[in-house]
Amino acid sequence: MIITLDGPAGSGKSSVARRLADELGFRFLNTGAMYRAVGLLCERAGTDLGDADACGRTAAAARLAQDGDRLSVDGEDWTELVRTPAAGAAASAVAVHPPVRAALVALQRAVGEAGDTVTEGRDQGTVVFPDAALKVFLTADAEARAERRRLELLAAGRDVPLAEVLAEVTGRDDKDERRAAAPLKPAADAVRYDTTGKPLEAVVADLVALARERG
Ligand code: C5P
Repeated sequence: MIITLDGPAGSGKSSVARRLADELGFRFLNTGAMYRAVGLLCERAGTDLGDADACGRTAAAARLAQDGDRLSVDGEDWTELVRTPAAGAAASAVAVHPPVRAALVALQRAVGEAGDTVTEGRDQGTVVFPDAALKVFLTADAEARAERRRLELLAAGRDVPLAEVLAEVTGRDDKDERRAAAPLKPAADAVRYDTTGKPLEAVVADLVALARERG
Protein backbone atom coordinates (compact mmCIF):
# COMPACT_ATOMS: atom_id res chain seq x y z
CA MET A 1 0.00 0.00 0.00
CA ILE A 2 1.25 3.46 -0.90
CA ILE A 3 0.19 6.59 0.99
CA THR A 4 1.23 9.94 -0.47
CA LEU A 5 1.48 13.20 1.47
CA ASP A 6 2.05 16.30 -0.64
CA GLY A 7 1.90 19.96 0.28
CA PRO A 8 3.79 23.23 0.62
CA ALA A 9 6.88 23.82 2.78
CA GLY A 10 6.22 23.61 6.51
CA SER A 11 2.78 22.04 6.20
CA GLY A 12 3.96 19.29 8.55
CA LYS A 13 4.49 16.64 5.87
CA SER A 14 7.73 15.16 7.21
CA SER A 15 6.69 14.89 10.85
CA VAL A 16 3.26 13.55 9.92
CA ALA A 17 4.62 11.09 7.33
CA ARG A 18 7.28 9.78 9.72
CA ARG A 19 4.77 9.20 12.52
CA LEU A 20 2.14 7.75 10.20
CA ALA A 21 4.71 5.31 8.80
CA ASP A 22 5.70 4.30 12.36
CA GLU A 23 2.09 3.73 13.38
CA LEU A 24 1.34 1.61 10.33
CA GLY A 25 4.69 -0.21 10.20
CA PHE A 26 5.36 1.24 6.73
CA ARG A 27 8.57 2.60 5.25
CA PHE A 28 8.94 6.40 5.17
CA LEU A 29 10.26 8.23 2.12
CA ASN A 30 11.26 11.90 2.33
CA THR A 31 11.61 12.92 -1.33
CA GLY A 32 12.47 16.56 -0.53
CA ALA A 33 15.74 15.33 1.00
CA MET A 34 16.63 13.77 -2.37
CA TYR A 35 16.12 17.07 -4.24
CA ARG A 36 18.10 18.86 -1.53
CA ALA A 37 20.99 16.40 -1.92
CA VAL A 38 21.04 16.84 -5.70
CA GLY A 39 20.95 20.64 -5.29
CA LEU A 40 23.95 20.51 -2.95
CA LEU A 41 25.82 18.04 -5.18
CA CYS A 42 25.39 20.42 -8.13
CA GLU A 43 26.55 23.38 -6.06
CA ARG A 44 29.59 21.52 -4.80
CA ALA A 45 30.52 20.48 -8.34
CA GLY A 46 30.20 24.09 -9.49
CA THR A 47 27.38 23.11 -11.86
CA ASP A 48 25.09 25.91 -13.02
CA LEU A 49 21.79 25.18 -11.23
CA GLY A 50 19.98 26.46 -14.32
CA ASP A 51 21.59 23.85 -16.60
CA ALA A 52 18.95 21.11 -16.90
CA ASP A 53 21.15 18.52 -18.59
CA ALA A 54 24.14 18.98 -16.29
CA CYS A 55 21.93 18.82 -13.19
CA GLY A 56 20.16 15.80 -14.66
CA ARG A 57 23.50 14.01 -15.09
CA THR A 58 24.36 14.78 -11.47
CA ALA A 59 21.00 13.41 -10.31
CA ALA A 60 21.37 10.25 -12.39
CA ALA A 61 24.88 9.62 -11.07
CA ALA A 62 24.09 10.47 -7.43
CA ARG A 63 24.45 7.52 -5.10
CA LEU A 64 21.58 8.36 -2.77
CA ALA A 65 20.32 5.96 -0.14
CA GLN A 66 17.47 6.54 2.25
CA ASP A 67 16.81 4.56 5.35
CA GLY A 68 13.86 6.03 7.20
CA ASP A 69 14.96 9.48 8.24
CA ARG A 70 18.59 9.10 7.29
CA LEU A 71 19.89 10.12 3.89
CA SER A 72 23.34 9.17 2.68
CA VAL A 73 25.23 10.26 -0.39
CA ASP A 74 28.12 8.06 -1.49
CA GLY A 75 27.95 6.36 1.88
CA GLU A 76 28.27 9.66 3.79
CA ASP A 77 25.45 10.76 6.13
CA TRP A 78 23.90 13.97 4.71
CA THR A 79 20.77 13.98 6.86
CA GLU A 80 21.62 17.20 8.71
CA LEU A 81 23.51 18.81 5.84
CA VAL A 82 20.43 18.88 3.59
CA ARG A 83 18.17 20.55 6.19
CA THR A 84 19.48 24.11 5.77
CA PRO A 85 17.52 26.88 3.98
CA ALA A 86 20.38 27.06 1.44
CA ALA A 87 19.85 23.39 0.58
CA GLY A 88 16.09 24.08 0.25
CA ALA A 89 16.77 26.88 -2.22
CA ALA A 90 19.19 24.70 -4.24
CA ALA A 91 16.58 21.90 -4.21
CA SER A 92 13.84 24.05 -5.64
CA ALA A 93 16.23 25.41 -8.30
CA VAL A 94 17.17 21.94 -9.60
CA ALA A 95 13.64 20.52 -9.11
CA VAL A 96 12.37 22.49 -12.13
CA HIS A 97 14.44 20.32 -14.51
CA PRO A 98 12.69 17.30 -16.08
CA PRO A 99 15.94 15.23 -16.27
CA VAL A 100 16.49 15.72 -12.53
CA ARG A 101 12.91 14.73 -11.78
CA ALA A 102 13.11 11.66 -14.03
CA ALA A 103 16.15 10.34 -12.17
CA LEU A 104 14.62 10.88 -8.73
CA VAL A 105 11.17 9.61 -9.68
CA ALA A 106 12.78 6.30 -10.75
CA LEU A 107 14.45 5.97 -7.33
CA GLN A 108 11.20 6.85 -5.55
CA ARG A 109 9.16 4.29 -7.50
CA ALA A 110 11.74 1.61 -6.72
CA VAL A 111 11.21 2.27 -3.00
CA GLY A 112 7.42 2.14 -3.42
CA GLU A 113 7.63 -1.13 -5.33
CA ALA A 114 9.63 -2.70 -2.53
CA GLY A 115 6.73 -2.54 -0.06
CA ASP A 116 4.24 -0.51 1.99
CA THR A 117 5.38 3.12 1.98
CA VAL A 118 4.35 6.53 3.25
CA THR A 119 5.97 9.02 0.91
CA GLU A 120 6.00 12.80 1.12
CA GLY A 121 6.87 15.58 -1.32
CA ARG A 122 5.21 17.76 -3.93
CA ASP A 123 4.30 15.34 -6.76
CA GLN A 124 3.89 12.01 -5.04
CA GLY A 125 0.14 11.74 -5.59
CA THR A 126 0.03 13.54 -8.95
CA VAL A 127 3.01 12.03 -10.81
CA VAL A 128 5.02 9.43 -8.93
CA PHE A 129 2.29 7.22 -7.46
CA PRO A 130 -0.93 8.05 -9.35
CA ASP A 131 -2.52 4.80 -8.12
CA ALA A 132 -1.73 5.31 -4.42
CA ALA A 133 -4.40 3.92 -2.09
CA LEU A 134 -4.53 7.14 -0.08
CA LYS A 135 -3.43 10.60 -1.21
CA VAL A 136 -3.37 13.49 1.22
CA PHE A 137 -2.67 17.14 0.46
CA LEU A 138 -1.57 18.91 3.64
CA THR A 139 -1.99 22.65 3.93
CA ALA A 140 -1.59 25.24 6.69
CA ASP A 141 -1.60 29.05 6.92
CA ALA A 142 1.64 30.61 5.73
CA GLU A 143 2.41 31.98 9.23
CA ALA A 144 1.83 28.59 10.82
CA ARG A 145 4.11 26.97 8.25
CA ALA A 146 6.84 29.53 8.77
CA GLU A 147 6.62 29.15 12.55
CA ARG A 148 6.89 25.38 12.22
CA ARG A 149 9.97 25.71 9.99
CA ARG A 150 11.47 28.26 12.39
CA LEU A 151 11.13 25.83 15.31
CA GLU A 152 12.71 23.04 13.24
CA LEU A 153 15.67 25.29 12.43
CA LEU A 154 15.93 26.33 16.08
CA ALA A 155 16.02 22.67 17.12
CA ALA A 156 18.93 22.29 14.70
CA GLY A 157 20.70 25.21 16.42
CA ARG A 158 19.86 27.96 13.89
CA ASP A 159 17.95 31.00 15.12
CA VAL A 160 16.44 32.54 11.98
CA PRO A 161 13.96 35.47 12.32
CA LEU A 162 10.35 34.56 11.52
CA ALA A 163 10.07 37.13 8.71
CA GLU A 164 13.09 35.60 6.98
CA VAL A 165 11.68 32.07 7.27
CA LEU A 166 8.29 33.28 6.00
CA ALA A 167 9.90 34.86 2.93
CA GLU A 168 11.93 31.70 2.25
CA VAL A 169 8.92 29.39 2.60
CA THR A 170 6.50 31.45 0.49
CA GLY A 171 9.13 32.15 -2.18
CA ARG A 172 9.86 28.44 -2.53
CA ASP A 173 6.16 27.50 -2.65
CA ASP A 174 5.57 30.06 -5.35
CA LYS A 175 8.38 28.60 -7.45
CA ASP A 176 7.15 25.03 -6.82
CA GLU A 177 3.58 25.93 -7.83
CA ARG A 178 4.55 27.80 -10.99
CA ARG A 179 7.03 25.40 -12.52
CA ALA A 180 5.98 23.44 -15.62
CA ALA A 181 7.36 20.04 -14.52
CA ALA A 182 5.29 18.34 -11.80
CA PRO A 183 4.13 21.54 -10.07
CA LEU A 184 2.96 21.51 -6.47
CA LYS A 185 -0.78 20.86 -6.57
CA PRO A 186 -3.27 18.44 -5.06
CA ALA A 187 -4.12 15.30 -7.03
CA ALA A 188 -7.76 15.34 -8.16
CA ASP A 189 -8.49 12.45 -5.79
CA ALA A 190 -6.48 13.76 -2.81
CA VAL A 191 -8.00 14.36 0.62
CA ARG A 192 -7.20 17.94 1.65
CA TYR A 193 -6.21 18.36 5.26
CA ASP A 194 -5.46 21.67 7.00
CA THR A 195 -2.96 21.25 9.84
CA THR A 196 -3.11 24.88 11.11
CA GLY A 197 -3.19 24.81 14.91
CA LYS A 198 -3.61 21.03 15.04
CA PRO A 199 -1.36 18.96 17.28
CA LEU A 200 0.70 16.37 15.42
CA GLU A 201 -0.95 13.55 17.36
CA ALA A 202 -4.43 14.59 16.15
CA VAL A 203 -3.35 14.80 12.50
CA VAL A 204 -1.64 11.41 12.68
CA ALA A 205 -4.68 9.81 14.37
CA ASP A 206 -6.99 11.14 11.62
CA LEU A 207 -4.72 9.86 8.86
CA VAL A 208 -4.23 6.46 10.52
CA ALA A 209 -8.03 6.13 10.55
CA LEU A 210 -8.25 7.11 6.87
CA ALA A 211 -5.47 4.65 5.95
CA ARG A 212 -7.22 1.82 7.79
CA GLU A 213 -10.46 2.60 5.92
CA ARG A 214 -8.61 2.34 2.60
CA GLY A 215 -6.35 -0.58 3.51
O1 C5P B 1 10.08 19.05 1.23
P1 C5P B 1 11.31 19.90 1.17
O2 C5P B 1 11.11 21.26 1.72
O3 C5P B 1 12.50 19.22 1.77
O4 C5P B 1 11.61 20.05 -0.40
C1 C5P B 1 12.64 20.87 -0.89
C2 C5P B 1 12.33 21.27 -2.33
O5 C5P B 1 12.48 20.13 -3.18
C3 C5P B 1 10.92 21.77 -2.60
O6 C5P B 1 10.79 23.16 -2.36
C4 C5P B 1 10.71 21.42 -4.07
O7 C5P B 1 11.24 22.41 -4.92
C5 C5P B 1 11.53 20.16 -4.24
N1 C5P B 1 10.72 18.94 -4.23
C6 C5P B 1 10.06 18.58 -5.39
N2 C5P B 1 9.37 17.42 -5.44
C7 C5P B 1 9.30 16.62 -4.37
C8 C5P B 1 9.93 16.98 -3.16
C9 C5P B 1 10.62 18.18 -3.11
O8 C5P B 1 10.10 19.31 -6.38
N3 C5P B 1 8.63 15.46 -4.47
